[in-house]
Amino acid sequence: METKFHNFLLLAISLLATQLPSSSSSSTSTIKKFHFNVEWKNITRLCHSKLLLTVNGKYPGPTIDVNEGDNVHVTVTNKVARNTTIHWHGVRQMRSAWADGPAYITQCPIGAGKAYTYKFSVVDQRGTLWWHAHFSWQRASVYGAFIIHPRTPFPFSLPIYPANVPLIFGEWWNEDVERVENEMMLYGGGPQISDAYTFNGLPGPLYPCSDKDIFIQTVTPGKTYLLRIINAALNDELFFAVANHTLTVVEIDGVYTKPFATTAIMIAPGQTTNVLLTADQLPGPTGIFTMAARPYLTSVFHFNNSTTIAFLKYQTNPTSKHPPIPPYPLPQNLPNLEDTLFAANFLNSLKSLGSKNFPCKVPQRIDKQVITTISLNLQDCPNNQTCRGFQEKRFFASMNNQSFVRPSISILESHYHNQTLGFSPDFPERPPFAFNYTGVDPFAENMSTSFGTRVLQLPYGAKLEIVLQDTNFLNPENHPIHVHGHNFFVVGRGFGNFDAERDPLGYNLVDPPERNTVAVPVGGWAAIRLVMDNPGVWFVHCHLEEHTSWGLAMGFTVESGREASQRLPPPPSDLPPC
Ligand code: C2O
Ligand code: CU
Repeated sequence: METKFHNFLLLAISLLATQLPSSSSSSTSTIKKFHFNVEWKNITRLCHSKLLLTVNGKYPGPTIDVNEGDNVHVTVTNKVARNTTIHWHGVRQMRSAWADGPAYITQCPIGAGKAYTYKFSVVDQRGTLWWHAHFSWQRASVYGAFIIHPRTPFPFSLPIYPANVPLIFGEWWNEDVERVENEMMLYGGGPQISDAYTFNGLPGPLYPCSDKDIFIQTVTPGKTYLLRIINAALNDELFFAVANHTLTVVEIDGVYTKPFATTAIMIAPGQTTNVLLTADQLPGPTGIFTMAARPYLTSVFHFNNSTTIAFLKYQTNPTSKHPPIPPYPLPQNLPNLEDTLFAANFLNSLKSLGSKNFPCKVPQRIDKQVITTISLNLQDCPNNQTCRGFQEKRFFASMNNQSFVRPSISILESHYHNQTLGFSPDFPERPPFAFNYTGVDPFAENMSTSFGTRVLQLPYGAKLEIVLQDTNFLNPENHPIHVHGHNFFVVGRGFGNFDAERDPLGYNLVDPPERNTVAVPVGGWAAIRLVMDNPGVWFVHCHLEEHTSWGLAMGFTVESGREASQRLPPPPSDLPPC
């Protein structure tokens, strides 16, 4: 059945590939306007009520639904006494860097009582992306789906019910999340772990006092559904599975993939995954199958190993009157917490669709290769302070031993005015010295980092390869590295140390997966290729929020090109001042 289904998909794609017009030829002047009020809302989960930061009082926030080619205007009004910004995660922002959103990178934050209209268009992009706050840890509750409907038919001709209900994973803290972050930074230890994982803001019945907070997706037997899965969790990569059902992956990070059937998926914070699910099982008396998500753990410092569940409910006729009764069995196909083998196999199965209409544009040649370590670090505790990291020191994180410090101005503004105020264009292109990155003793050896706001300066159009190399310091860990304003191709990945002679021979330069966030293998490396075709300043960082706070980040400044169409326009008049 699975193979037949899979073959059918492939056939459907090859048929469509010969019939569709080019996907990028159309343009439009449609403007879609949205209003986002950032405001407090009293929300109760796990019997804890608190004021939660939301957009328009919704948790998760409203879905942005647009068509490929639309101009999008989102007016964000800040109704709280804290700074904020919103980032449109995965939107290319071609020549609209001013609308990207990361605080102090492309804009100063929107102050209390102030507003800013993000204006950008979604060109040659389609599928599931998302948006989230990009100021301190506000994205814990300020997030939502960003859906771009394609202009050309979906390349998988199945009778799909576009269940436009996204499936967003998140984390809930009973505490105020900014307090959790402040405490972490004050004492230099790991953050207080979340109290629950959530499906669309609902923890599900496996948590205390949460019997009613269950997300339920109803389906009609025999139909196929498109699930738009988004990992908005702050600090945890997740496995996801549906009991008794196979998932067919068709898109990642808003880019079509070669469809492949799998029993479960691994999804890192920042990533999105579209899967097809056919309601083809015999529903039992309750008509309910459990959907579950739990972390993929590679860190010895994380301990929220709990599981969130939701229900897939078959609409049976006559409708079943049986209420679901605990215990709710977990899907047998849900991988175990430390199943690195599953994660590696899953990620290795992802390939770009690479059809005529959706070609894979991986650069065959590069102009520059950058190799950077990604590390956790221990730093001495400042005098007269207590530190709760390891060995009474404090945690930091770094790329090539640089811990990124966000400035108090907007780097993009400074760059636009040809200044280097607040940052320096000297991010090192190689590790400080070569060592056995994944062979060092995690606890006995460590390295201090230097602090600064270092970026890599690149000419317009540069073709870049970046090798992201995990290290063993403190703990080898899977890090989801996100690049703003660009998609990239994951041409290679592996465990151990990157071998500059041998590993490039194994690169996939035919149909590598294209995405905006790559999960770098624990104790391993990933090589990505991208074209710097978007003038501006672009943040690059680990999408585990604790690591970003500790400095696991860098940035690119990309010069404007010669043509008018390759230049960054001047800043909008309502751009917030610092
Ligand atoms: Cu999802 Cu810097 O962001
Ligand atoms: Cu990380």
